[in-house]
Amino acid sequence: MSRVLAFGLLFGLGVVSRVNAQSPLYGQCGGTGWAGATTCVAGATCVVSNPYYSQCLPGAASSSTAATATTTTPTTTSSAPTTTSAPTSTPSGTGKLSHVGINISGFDFGCNSDGSCTASGAWPPLLKYYGHDGAGQMQHFVNDDGFNTFRLPVGWQFLSNDAQTGTLNETNFAEYNDLVNACLATGASCIVDVHNYARFNGAIIGQGGPSNAVFATLWGNIAAKFASNSKIIFGVMNEPHDVPDINMWAASVQAAVTAIRNAGATSQIILLPGNNWTSAQTFVSNGSGPALLTVTNPDGTTTGLVFDVHKYLDSDNSGTNAECVTNNIASSWQPLADWLRTNKRQAFNTETGGGNTASCVQYLCQQIAYQAQNSDVFLGYVGWAAGNFDPSYVLSEVPTQSGSTWTDTLLVKSCLAPVSGSQSGSTGM
Ligand SMILES: *[C@@H]1O[C@H](CO)[C@@H](O)[C@H](O)[C@H]1NC(C)=O
Ligand SMILES: *[C@@H]1O[C@H](CO)[C@@H](O)[C@H](O)[C@H]1NC(C)=O
Ligand SMILES: *[C@@H]1O[C@H](CO)[C@@H](O)[C@H](O)[C@H]1NC(C)=O
Ligand SMILES: *[C@@H]1O[C@H](CO)[C@@H](O)[C@H](O)[C@H]1NC(C)=O
Repeated sequence: MSRVLAFGLLFGLGVVSRVNAQSPLYGQCGGTGWAGATTCVAGATCVVSNPYYSQCLPGAASSSTAATATTTTPTTTSSAPTTTSAPTSTPSGTGKLSHVGINISGFDFGCNSDGSCTASGAWPPLLKYYGHDGAGQMQHFVNDDGFNTFRLPVGWQFLSNDAQTGTLNETNFAEYNDLVNACLATGASCIVDVHNYARFNGAIIGQGGPSNAVFATLWGNIAAKFASNSKIIFGVMNEPHDVPDINMWAASVQAAVTAIRNAGATSQIILLPGNNWTSAQTFVSNGSGPALLTVTNPDGTTTGLVFDVHKYLDSDNSGTNAECVTNNIASSWQPLADWLRTNKRQAFNTETGGGNTASCVQYLCQQIAYQAQNSDVFLGYVGWAAGNFDPSYVLSEVPTQSGSTWTDTLLVKSCLAPVSGSQSGSTGM
C-alpha cells in the first residue's frame, strides 16, 4: 500500500523528484540506461546484479557504499558471477513491456501433464459457477496494479466435453466464454490457452494421439468465436514436453496457425510453444526454436507469430518451491534475446513466478527488469497464478478481499505489478 502511494506521488511530481528520490527495498538503483534513483531507502544497500540492473537489497549500508555500487561496471570484481558472458547484441528495449499479466486458473483444473483432463474436473473461476471471483480479481489487477493481460487456461476436454474431437460443446464453451468476456471487460488482452501439454489423454497430437486435422479443427472453431476481437491472443498449447519429434510438432503448430488464420483471426497474436515444458532455457538448444521458425501465416509471413516460453526461478525450474535461486538472465534470457534479435522474432514469457519470499522478490524483480530492458524482443510476462488457487498455494498470486479492498501477495506488489516499478520504464512519463 505505501509503495503504491509512493509511486503515485513520484508520478505526480515528475522527473526531477524521481531522480532525487531513493529507491525502495528491492527497487532498481542502477544499471545501463537507468536514469532513476541511485541510492536506497534506509536499511537497504544498492547491489550490482548484472550490467543492466542494480537492486536495493536488505542490509544497512552508508550512502557512499550505495553510490559506489551503482557506478560499478561489469568488468570489476563486484559484478555477479552470472554475468560472465558478454551479450552478442545490445538490449534496445524501451524499458517497458507491452503485455504484463496474471494467469487466472480454474478451467484447467483436472488436467494432468499427460494431457488427461476431465470436463467435470474444470472449476470455473467465476462466482456464478461457485468459483472464486476471477472477474473481480482481474478488475483489481487492472485498476490497482496496472496489469493489462490475463492468461485463461482451459482443458481441451472441457471445450469438447471429453470427446476427442475438435467440435466445441456449446454449453461448456459458453461458461469459458463468460471468463473471456470478464477479461475483455477490463480492457485487457486475454490469452486463450489450451492447457493439454501437446496431448489428449496421454497420446501426443500428430504423433499417435489426435491428428493434426483434429487439432486444427479445434483451433479453427475457437478462433471463429473470437475472430473479430483484437484483444484475444491464441495460446496454441501449454507446455509440450517429451515430444519425440520436434519437426513433427512444428507441423502440428503450423496446422493450428493455418486454421486460426483461415477462421478469420487474421491479425491477432498467436503463441507458438516449444518442447521441454516450453523452457526458455532450452528453447534454442533443444531444437524448438529452429523448428518453430518454419511456422508461417498462410501468406508466408510470420507477423503476429510469437514464441511462447516459460521459466521459473527455483532450484529445479519446476515452479514448486517457495525459494528462488536465479534470475535466469545468463542461463536463459540473454541467450534467448540474442537469438530472437538475430532471427528478427519475439517471445512472450507466459508463465513465471515464485514463492512469496524475499529470495523470489529479489530474483524475479531482476528478471522482469532485464526483460523490460529487452522489450524489443520480449512482449512481457504472465505470473502464475491467481484464480481458483487457495491463498496457501506456494505460488499463489491470489489477492485477498476485505470489503471493497483487495490486498496483493508480496510477489505481486513487489515485482509483478507494473506499479511496483520493477520495469524501469514504467515510472517514466
Ligand atoms: C455438452 O456438455 C454438457 C455438459 O456440460 C452435456 O450435458 C451436453 O449433453 C453436451 N452437449 C452435446 C451436444 O454433447
Ligand atoms: C529442460 O529445461 C531445463 C531447464 O529449464 C533443463 O535443465 C533440462 O535439461 C531440459 N531438458 C531437456 C531434455 O532438454
Ligand atoms: C531435446 O530433449 C529431448 C528430451 O525431451 C532429448 O531427448 C534430446 O536429446 C534433446 N535434444 C537436444 C538437441 O538437446
Ligand atoms: C498459467 O496457468 C496454467 C494453468 O493452470 C498453469 O499451468 C501455468 O503454470 C500458469 N502460468 C503462469 C505463468 O502462471
